[in-house]
Amino acid sequence: MHPSALLGSEGFFAFLEDLTLRFAGGRTKMTETGRLTALNLIGAGALSEALIMGILEADVLPPEAIYVTNRSDDERLLDLSRRFGVQAVRDASRFPSALTVLAVKPKDVSEALYHHRPLIVRAPLLLSAVAGVPMRALRSALGVKPPLARAMTNTSAVVRAAVTVVAYEDGVPENLRAQVEALFSAVGSVERIPEEAMDLVTALSGSGPAYVYYLLEALTAAAAALGMSYDLAARLARQTVIGAGCMLAARPETPESLRLKIMSPGGTTEAALAALDAGDFRALVARAVEAAERRSKALAEQFDASLKHAAHGKNASNP
Ligand SMILES: NC(=O)c1ccc[n+]([C@@H]2O[C@H](COP(=O)([O-])OP(=O)(O)OC[C@H]3O[C@@H](n4cnc5c(N)ncnc54)[C@H](OP(=O)(O)O)[C@@H]3O)[C@@H](O)[C@H]2O)c1
Repeated sequence: MHPSALLGSEGFFAFLEDLTLRFAGGRTKMTETGRLTALNLIGAGALSEALIMGILEADVLPPEAIYVTNRSDDERLLDLSRRFGVQAVRDASRFPSALTVLAVKPKDVSEALYHHRPLIVRAPLLLSAVAGVPMRALRSALGVKPPLARAMTNTSAVVRAAVTVVAYEDGVPENLRAQVEALFSAVGSVERIPEEAMDLVTALSGSGPAYVYYLLEALTAAAAALGMSYDLAARLARQTVIGAGCMLAARPETPESLRLKIMSPGGTTEAALAALDAGDFRALVARAVEAAERRSKALAEQFDASLKHAAHGKNASNP
């Protein structure tokens, strides 16, 4: 019988936490040099799981130094705790004062900030991984503490091949920036950017994997329409994209140089690209990226307004 059946889920979480604390020897989770020694995850979904897997595989932290919570799904927390050995936590006082990642959907941000406020305000840094929510909106909801950073990663985090960009509020010290970057390096590459560039980043690398999948779908449909079996077309298109990605990873050449090696004058690839150019392929891609950037900006405005509204409502009822 699983221990949760004996203790109930709350008792089981407390049991797991206490056990780990005994072995960890207390709750001081930040060394003097500021190295990442513990992590709190608010949200236990796909992104948090990808981060947990990356952190453990890259040996950034031991599992018992990762604390995770969600809104209500006890089974999911138990599952993460069973599979990875991380700490599934419900009681805010049990979180260490450590780098805290907000990994909830944008619609849940206001509630999560409110509900986890005691944990968040004593964190040395809150890192929001939430797409589309600007730091000014988080700041107006939270008040003066803690310092903030914002990251935009992509779904390839699940296979440790994401690209993540991070923006920091002014004044965030270098040791905390290093902790954030160590964390996201565990699931791919990391770049620093000013927050103003975040909407364009969202349009490029945040949504970008979907553009590649869409191209793959179109290639499959094209070959199927020309008589190939759909399954064979899907396999060939998929492996073509995987192979091209591996070439990019393995070779220092530009995509253009790799492309030119495939194109011989008067050949098949040249004929295909001429058809794409005739349909103004590059202009179409530019319009797609612009549309995504515009949408990201509009969503940011909406969240800014709604979080300010929620914060004023809560402050008014809770002076
Ligand atoms: N998945 C990715 O690879 C990826 C890539 C880039 C950016 N992001 C961003 O990362 C964020 C999380 O994405 P996801 O894919 O991980 O979402 P997800 O799989 O839907 O998980 C969301 C998690 O948030 C929890 N949650 C909701 N309200 C909460 C609250 N009030 N307090 C604590 N936890 C709460 C949910 O708990 P319950 O299940 O109990 O409701 C769930 O565990 C999103 O903003 C997304 O835009 C994700």
